[in-house]
Amino acid sequence: MYGADLAEIFELIHRGRGKNYLSEAHEVTRRVRMHKPAAASLLDVACGTGSHLTAFATLFDHVEGLEISEPFMRAAKAAVPQAVLHLGDMRDFDLGRSFDAISCMFGSIGYLATTRELTATLTRFAHHLVPGGVVAIDPWWFLETYTDGYVSGSVIEVDGTTISRVSHSKLEGNASRMDVHYIVADSVQGARHFTENHLITLFTRAQYEKAFAAAGFTVEYIEGLHAGRGLFVGVRD
Ligand SMILES: C[S@@+](CC[C@H](N)C(=O)[O-])C[C@H]1O[C@@H](n2cnc3c(N)ncnc32)[C@H](O)[C@@H]1O
Repeated sequence: MYGADLAEIFELIHRGRGKNYLSEAHEVTRRVRMHKPAAASLLDVACGTGSHLTAFATLFDHVEGLEISEPFMRAAKAAVPQAVLHLGDMRDFDLGRSFDAISCMFGSIGYLATTRELTATLTRFAHHLVPGGVVAIDPWWFLETYTDGYVSGSVIEVDGTTISRVSHSKLEGNASRMDVHYIVADSVQGARHFTENHLITLFTRAQYEKAFAAAGFTVEYIEGLHAGRGLFVGVRD
């Protein structure tokens, strides 16, 4: 999961599917500064290939990233050389400093398996925030908003490379099992195919809100952002 093949094309395919990393980073920054106007430092948890961090680096004086996948971390280092990046697990990390803001984008929080892990991870986030610091989490679908059996398909062409991505998602217990097939082709290397399989937990909105409260946050949920998944904004009590 989140291997080298995917790291190469991750940003391209999602930009090609309409994801606007720059505007998402601006929106998160705006929400952070509504609560903490002088916010100057940000940690992006599960930063992936660094696409949000590239924008955050222009909006905050100091940015850092945390990421569990080595290939994704290498791509982030190349994309945002000015950021301090840590290879690590959001469930158990200690960076020895605190931040004005923490972001965790694009459903990455759904890789936590249980509400216990969710609460423990949000408590880690609180531990890395200054008092009054702000966390912004773009969650995975809620159990109540998820569409079982969802199929998605996209083909994009960038700089002579054609990439197709087809995914199928099905309910498995309280999680979504998503199989994603990629075909990447160019005139020199020809076509190659690989798959990625994800198990992403469908926490309910109430489970998120309970975990935020238990971790010491006052939280609000903004509907509609991020293709309908919304955004949680929590302020550390
Ligand atoms: C959907 S991608 C989002 C990446 C990036 N935030 C973005 O918006 O492009 C999910 C990311 O979460 C990372 N991830 C999953 N579990 C993690 C964990 N326990 N700790 C840190 N990162 C994790 C994956 O390696 C992957 O980069």
